[in-house]
Amino acid sequence: MKKFSVVIAGGGSTYTPGIVMMLLDNLDRFPLRKLKLYDNDRERQAVLGEALDIVMKENAPDIEYSFTTDPEEAFTDIDFCFAHIRTGKYEMREKDEKIPLKHGVVGQETCGPGGIAYGMRSIGDMIELIDIMEKYSPDAWMLNYSNPAAIVAEACRVLRPNSKVLNICDMPVGTLRRMSHIIGIEPKDLEVRYFGLNHFGWWTSIKDKEGHEYLPQIRDYVAENGYLTQKEVDTQHTDASWQETHKKAKDLLAVDPRFLPNTYLKYYFYPDYVVEHSNPEFTRANEVIAGREKTVFSTARNIIERGTAEGCEFEMGAHAVFIVDLARAIAFNTHERMLLIVENNGAIANFDDDAMVEVPCIIGSDGPEPLSQGKIPEFQRALMYQQVTVEKLVVQAYIEGSYQKLWQALTLSKTVPSAKVAKEILDDLIEANKAYWPELH
Ligand code: NAD
Ligand code: G6P
Ligand code: MN
Repeated sequence: MKKFSVVIAGGGSTYTPGIVMMLLDNLDRFPLRKLKLYDNDRERQAVLGEALDIVMKENAPDIEYSFTTDPEEAFTDIDFCFAHIRTGKYEMREKDEKIPLKHGVVGQETCGPGGIAYGMRSIGDMIELIDIMEKYSPDAWMLNYSNPAAIVAEACRVLRPNSKVLNICDMPVGTLRRMSHIIGIEPKDLEVRYFGLNHFGWWTSIKDKEGHEYLPQIRDYVAENGYLTQKEVDTQHTDASWQETHKKAKDLLAVDPRFLPNTYLKYYFYPDYVVEHSNPEFTRANEVIAGREKTVFSTARNIIERGTAEGCEFEMGAHAVFIVDLARAIAFNTHERMLLIVENNGAIANFDDDAMVEVPCIIGSDGPEPLSQGKIPEFQRALMYQQVTVEKLVVQAYIEGSYQKLWQALTLSKTVPSAKVAKEILDDLIEANKAYWPELH
């Protein structure tokens, strides 16, 4: 079987160890010859890099492993780049969340003003990463988790339309695990229909391979419990604040009981509730710093101190399964069905061709083939058009350096009450993002 070379960009990410463990677990299905980590923060990466060096030596000594901050070394001779970078790191995520809250508006990593601010930081770094990859390995694929995926995907569509980049999200995969637990059927035995934008979509069908429809059964459960399950079904999305989000899906479903909602619709349907239940002094960024980041980095330090990874507890879940399965689908032309963020081009019949949408695709060596989802109802269509226009305006604002367009984007976001509040938030965000955003005029 052919063997592949993978670079993980954002090697210092909290998700890197999980993906590496998953790659090791899948060597029989997706064999590796090389694995490299690449980050622009030497110190942060060194901790995970050295710990994973021990893991690799103990588990797969034949795979050439290295970690580096040098782009040429990282991107030469690779078949895949798995990207999950965070421009500005948690320090800036905290500001994305806290600045809007100061103005009584949702403070969230990827939705509303926080997501817009993060988008303005991510675009430049992502485009640079694509260019580096194409310079050193022109045939490679980039599988990108870096957020905000909706804005990054639109930037790729506009600025690098021919690049081999697939933007992905783990939320539908994670939620499908919950649905699968509810009905007692393995996720791999389910086929879904879904339409929407990233972090803004709905399932319209959940069937087993024989064609039996489970949506009504899942809907009855979600109407009572949201996506909360008695037993934990994944290693991700388990903190108390996530449980609250899974539970809130009950109120999302109530707005349109025909379809099963993505959890992220909470920020658009119930922004008042979200603000009331947020602590402006301690947001999700603070929880992650005190939780996942601490756990992952102390596990790594512990491995380095002990000099062995025996009994090591790096977690791997649906997030890691998805990216490894996707790479395998491209590598071996498997034509599996997965949700990806792609240019619409008719997949949603009554939505703009040039919108980046999230829909099921058949995926093989030539990339994704989006599956037709038919026409969508006017309620969802109108919401999506508003949100996709926010995303398009952000990308235009970035390219043109336009204050006006970014103000319009914030004003149009369903999470922001008025142009006045939008302007106040924008001016604070500009100040906080001076080191990252292009100058606006
Ligand atoms: P993290 O801060 O722990 O990791 C990000 C890493 O990227 C850091 O080590 C940082 O130094 C590095 N980095 C920043 N800019 C870089 C650049 N230009 N080149 C190389 N490296 C760079 O963050 P995390 O919580 O582990 O998340 C990583 C990313 O994955 C974030 O963008 C997050 O939003 C995203 N994510 C997306 C999904 C999804 O559904 N799409 C799911 C989970 C995480
Ligand atoms: C989900 C989303 C990601 C997002 C993550 C945040 O997995 O799909 O896009 O980055 O949640 O999780 P966190 O634990 O960092 O708040
Ligand atoms: Mn996501």
